[in-house]
Amino acid sequence: MISFIGAGPGDPELITVKGQKRLAEADVVIYAGSLVNPEILSWCRPDAEIHNSASMSLEEVLAVMKRAVGEGKGVARVHTGDPSIYGAHREQMDALDEMGIAYEIVPGVSSFLAAAAAVKKEFTLPGVSQTVIITRLAGRTPVPEKESLASLAQHRASLCIFLSTHLLSEVSQELIQGGYEEDTPVAVVYKASWPDEKTVLGTLGDIAQKVSGARISRTAMIMVGRFLEGPYDRSLLYDPTFTHGYRQGKKGTEE
Ligand SMILES: C[S@@+](CC[C@H](N)C(=O)[O-])C[C@H]1O[C@@H](n2cnc3c(N)ncnc32)[C@H](O)[C@@H]1O
Repeated sequence: MISFIGAGPGDPELITVKGQKRLAEADVVIYAGSLVNPEILSWCRPDAEIHNSASMSLEEVLAVMKRAVGEGKGVARVHTGDPSIYGAHREQMDALDEMGIAYEIVPGVSSFLAAAAAVKKEFTLPGVSQTVIITRLAGRTPVPEKESLASLAQHRASLCIFLSTHLLSEVSQELIQGGYEEDTPVAVVYKASWPDEKTVLGTLGDIAQKVSGARISRTAMIMVGRFLEGPYDRSLLYDPTFTHGYRQGKKGTEE
């Protein structure tokens, strides 16, 4: 059996209990060494066979999985954050399906969630935005034209931009072209939840300069939107006058 495991954003304690258990049981571990914190390997069995996929091709990863399963061994395939987000995960699952090899997925805490925690903000504020967009600028992997930042900008949703810190001036320009005001708040969180985590706060107008001054160009989350600063409406869920399935609202308690 193969267990795909989301290792979380960096802090070893942010892996799930289930993920940690699978890791501790595995005969073979294949981890994405470019971003997964190697500290989590301390939970592996001393006799576990460990591979760093950073230097492996898809074919090499699949060959290790196939051989291990053939020998009746359990495999933990460890991805950073959650495997469903920019994890090159689907191609592995499709190949395993073709080979008739069973797998499970243990989800993880994605870095965009750790980044919100780092700045102590909520993406979905009433009266501001009820939508979170996860996106990136094109790198070696292209982004479909219909998903350009300028076109996503028209929604004014809370934005989480992965894999793009080295292109931050372009990010700001595209968002401003798309209609965002220059004073829109931006937070860039480098290595959220790691000991060397760093946060840079600014606006679309000045963030690129600030982030380059802080010498951050990779492993960072760009968050954009008025959820970072400014007014919002309080929630109806906890409004004393609002009735819902679990609570009867009290009349006249609102000022
Ligand atoms: C290949 S993607 C993997 C994303 C991962 N699957 C997830 O759910 O977070 C790598 C990008 O995720 C973001 N990232 C990963 N870990 C991060 C962290 N601890 N803090 C901030 N951003 C992070 C950065 O934008 C980085 O360029």
